[in-house]
Amino acid sequence: MDAVQIIDVVKHYGNVLALDHVNLSVKEGEFFGLLGPNGAGKTTLIRILTGLTAPTSGRTLILGYDVLNEPVKAKKQFGLVPEISNVYDDLTAWDNLMFMAKLYGIPEREREERAMKLLEALGLRERVDSPVKQFSKGMRRRLAIAAALIHEPRILFLDEPTSGLDTQSSRFIREVLRELNRKGMTIFLTTHFIEEADQLCKRVAILDKGKICVVDTPENLKASLQEKEALEVIFNSPTSIDEEEFKKHCSGIVRLSENKFRFYVSDSSSILPLLVDFAKNKGLKILSVNTLKPILEDVFIKYTGIDPLMAERMEQLRYKR
Ligand SMILES: Nc1ncnc2c1ncn2[C@@H]1O[C@H](COP(=O)(O)OP(=O)(O)OP(=O)(O)O)[C@@H](O)[C@H]1O
Ligand SMILES: [Mg+2]
Repeated sequence: MDAVQIIDVVKHYGNVLALDHVNLSVKEGEFFGLLGPNGAGKTTLIRILTGLTAPTSGRTLILGYDVLNEPVKAKKQFGLVPEISNVYDDLTAWDNLMFMAKLYGIPEREREERAMKLLEALGLRERVDSPVKQFSKGMRRRLAIAAALIHEPRILFLDEPTSGLDTQSSRFIREVLRELNRKGMTIFLTTHFIEEADQLCKRVAILDKGKICVVDTPENLKASLQEKEALEVIFNSPTSIDEEEFKKHCSGIVRLSENKFRFYVSDSSSILPLLVDFAKNKGLKILSVNTLKPILEDVFIKYTGIDPLMAERMEQLRYKR
């Protein structure tokens, strides 16, 4: 059975069309990623899936239960880790979990056992009695994950689980999610970190301006780039490039900064002489040329267009590799 079914969901906020006829299914046991830039509609979709907002039209089913018509049954099946942590600042980690467990009607003995296990698994054992207001962002997020798991749901929804966290905290959380998935839990997360989707998810949907552009495995998405290479060129000074000049030889040109460009090509040797001529004619020098294999970012750009912030992040990623 499908863990999650999204059937023709539309969501309007006044004049804003946040979701535009979204259709999507996620199988039980899958690790699914919803990838999209800011404002794409990721949080809106998570809120609809978890019954926090009603869609303008369309339906969502959680393990076959209609979220709007059978909310109690649907809600027992999933846990939610929202974008902004929903744990109570004045309560201790322990009391937060006890409170959540009571809400779900979990018997007392069981409550304590589960809370202990979860706090252990999330590396919060030593801090059970600390009030949450003393917690770091990463600890808060981990507690929010524990709270979302206390009723042993079959599906876990997470809205940007690692955003705002440092590398170490992010890595810890990713490992916890992998482990949960290995044990059979369906994971549905949103992210704008392509690297995260690539590392974790079995399938990825790219959402842009409320529309699903593509759904596939990260591997297939990468392979779907016809171009085998991306060629990065840095000139010695800012330049304007006449795209038409290069269009016959490459499928896309992206400006990464004032004097840095990326060309998507099937064979870099075809475009190199042109670049040399171009530089010569304009009195420019080529400071560096780099060929790169496509990564998931390139697919993202292909479907959503370039985002300057993303370009910057891509740079960091490229050079980390
Ligand atoms: N409560 C609201 N009232 C009005 N408009 C809203 C509301 N919530 C979201 N929107 C709009 O809906 C669109 C989608 O927003 P949403 O928060 O779902 O995007 P997102 O993909 O989660 O973005 P981010 O990556 O920034 O979290 C945006 O245009 C946003 O301004
Ligand atoms: Mg969001």
